[in-house]
Amino acid sequence: MSTIIITGASKGIGKATAAMFIEAGHDVYNISRTACDLADINNVAIDLASSEAESPVSQFVNDIEAGQIHLIHNAARLTSESVRDIEIDAFRSTIDINIVAPQVLNRALLPKMQAGSSIIYIGSTLSEKAVANSYSYVVTKHAMIGMMRATCQDLAGSGIHTTCVCPGFTNTEMLRAHVGESQEVLDSIAGGSTFGRLIEPDEIAGTIVFATENAVLNGAVIHANLGQIES
Ligand SMILES: NC(=O)c1ccc[n+]([C@@H]2O[C@H](COP(=O)([O-])OP(=O)(O)OC[C@H]3O[C@@H](n4cnc5c(N)ncnc54)[C@H](OP(=O)(O)O)[C@@H]3O)[C@@H](O)[C@H]2O)c1
Repeated sequence: MSTIIITGASKGIGKATAAMFIEAGHDVYNISRTACDLADINNVAIDLASSEAESPVSQFVNDIEAGQIHLIHNAARLTSESVRDIEIDAFRSTIDINIVAPQVLNRALLPKMQAGSSIIYIGSTLSEKAVANSYSYVVTKHAMIGMMRATCQDLAGSGIHTTCVCPGFTNTEMLRAHVGESQEVLDSIAGGSTFGRLIEPDEIAGTIVFATENAVLNGAVIHANLGQIES
């Protein structure tokens, strides 16, 4: 049995991932602002957008036993704004949740992570390309790949592996909140994949679980997007 720590497992991809690990008999912790309603999950309420997340994170980590730990950096914020108009406080706050919080957790947990552990970063298709009006998200999702690659190099010889899983359009609250509930818009987004549909959270969850189990993926960027149609 491993210890699984997932940020943002109260819903969406994180919750689907937590469900798979619980089903497999692991000890699963969710860090988010609201609780996950899965049975047998350990909820830890922390606002990862807060510049003061370090203290509650270290309190939580104190109670975690050393061993095989899989740390999944999944929580993120997606907002609409451009390079022309993003408020600096809003930019800082997105950097806090999308980039700083993963590092707060890395630093606190690494001393307890033994060989066979992993750190999985959740990127996005927007980790390697940009679209207009999602400035802070594009910037921070590009950073996820940099963090994963630097983690891979810094942990050489530790037996801990790392991977960045980059989902495409997945049927979650984050996507619906960003594009709205219009079925027409959702259909058009779905039409951008070679399968003509949105990805289900379970499909990304399965990819994340696979990444934790396979050290050969150390340093890899895994594109999990159903094949995007190139225009
Ligand atoms: N859905 C997509 O199309 C898509 C595509 C590419 C990449 N991704 C990536 O996949 C990951 C999961 O996305 P999702 O679509 O599953 O999103 P989601 O359904 O909106 O879930 C986001 C999770 O992050 C948590 N979270 C948000 N702000 C937080 C904060 N300040 N402190 C602590 N937790 C916070 C939320 O919990 P609380 O609200 O309870 O705090 C929730 O559990 C993200 O990294 C996202 O960038 C998603």
